[in-house]
Amino acid sequence: MTQDELKQAVAQAAADYVAEHAAAGSIIGVGTGSTANFFIDALAPLKSKYKGAVASSEATRQRLEAHGITVFDLNDVDNIPVYVDGADEIDAGLNMIKGGGAALTREKIVAAVATTFVCIADGSKLVDTMGKFPLPVEVIPMASAYVARELAKLGGTPVLRAGCVTDNGNLIIDVKGLSITDPKGLEAQINQITGVVTNGLFAMRPANVLLLGTSEGVKTIV
Ligand code: 5RP
Repeated sequence: MTQDELKQAVAQAAADYVAEHAAAGSIIGVGTGSTANFFIDALAPLKSKYKGAVASSEATRQRLEAHGITVFDLNDVDNIPVYVDGADEIDAGLNMIKGGGAALTREKIVAAVATTFVCIADGSKLVDTMGKFPLPVEVIPMASAYVARELAKLGGTPVLRAGCVTDNGNLIIDVKGLSITDPKGLEAQINQITGVVTNGLFAMRPANVLLLGTSEGVKTIV
């Protein structure tokens, strides 16, 4: 199976999960990226069952609306039973690196509201130790040089993502060369740097369920 076929398989599995676990009339949280896009396409045929969705990015909002799915402002929603999103890396504890698509802050906010975070990923995303994928950090523009110097002290190599402005008007610094043995500790430590909006470690709020696409089929890991 190609990587896209694996992504499609997990996206369909996530739509099935939502159909089984989210009550009719509820609002679904929707992530960002190519795997999340397949999920949006798989969710579309079920749209009459749900009130609508909360989007974790402008790109996701546009794709949901193109399918005729109503998108709610998060401030008007107090309950999201299921949030479905991809990841750049995920470990056995369901900690993740996210933000390859620069949507990490909104993703983290929607995930914080959601009861259940379902991560959908092809098998290449499952790793023993995270850090091979550069860790994205969203920063306030005026703080980017200071934050980069502070991030370098943690042992990685910070690189400003060229040409990238987030939906929140901020910049992304990707930190290369980290070996992340304490995801929760590092998530907290980076978030303490003044000028950081948030970083792409999802360890304080990890996934609850991983739907992993493999050549033997979709595996459910909890
Ligand atoms: C976007 C993300 C994505 O979930 C992550 O980058 C995975 O993307 P893809 O499904 O395209 O591999 O965190 O900010």
